[in-house]
Amino acid sequence: GGPLGVLCALREELAVHIAELDHDETVDVAGMRFHRGRIDGQEVVLVLAGMGKVNAAIAATLLIARFKARCLVFSGVAGGLDPALSIGDVIIAEHVIQHDAGYTAADGFVPYQPGFLPFFNPTDALGLSAHAALLARARLALEALTLAPLSQAAGGAGRAPGIHFARILTGDQFVASEPLRERLHREFSAAAVEMEGAAMAQVCEAFGVPWLVIRVLSDLAGRDSHMDFAAFGAEVSLACSRILRTLLPVL
Ligand code: ADE
Repeated sequence: GGPLGVLCALREELAVHIAELDHDETVDVAGMRFHRGRIDGQEVVLVLAGMGKVNAAIAATLLIARFKARCLVFSGVAGGLDPALSIGDVIIAEHVIQHDAGYTAADGFVPYQPGFLPFFNPTDALGLSAHAALLARARLALEALTLAPLSQAAGGAGRAPGIHFARILTGDQFVASEPLRERLHREFSAAAVEMEGAAMAQVCEAFGVPWLVIRVLSDLAGRDSHMDFAAFGAEVSLACSRILRTLLPVL
């Protein structure tokens, strides 16, 4: 029972999913517009959550408590942390960590590992892992999917984008710094960084609802990173749409 909830941070990310609704019944709550309808016959509720952890938490809570969503998916872009990855590659979160959580002290005294504070999330662990059975179904469903290469103008690598299952970091910061990219990759062994996934996951854990974070790399989180949707928005959005529609039958 219940619809699938789909969250996006940016209007450009949500537009491709809205375009696929059979009908679009909108409801406004807490300044957010929720779109109810069906994609490929499956009942969904889409929402433009906005950027950052608090917005993701508000939207996730409303999708579950008010719209009775049975599963939540965050769909959008992320910055790549692993230098082996390219713009356009797709990362699906096996595990998420709020990288901006933790302990800092002027004297360098560090009692906890980065991203960790006791009692920070319901499992009191470093980050949260996606539902194993859901991940297994997602892997199987995506095995046969080949995405079109991103154009050179969009920063593509000249090959079909890879689809990887890996760790994703979340924090209330857009990362455009080579030293920070390097530190986040090294300290957390993470593939990508974004600003919402782990917050949505924490809300889902609190309610006992399965979740999935799907991200297409829009930049590599270094000095030149910026989100230029004019250059590649349509291509990236198309990849998000193909992945969501491939996964819909198993979510
Ligand atoms: N979303 C897309 N690129 C990002 C980056 N470099 N940092 C944080 N969130 C992002």
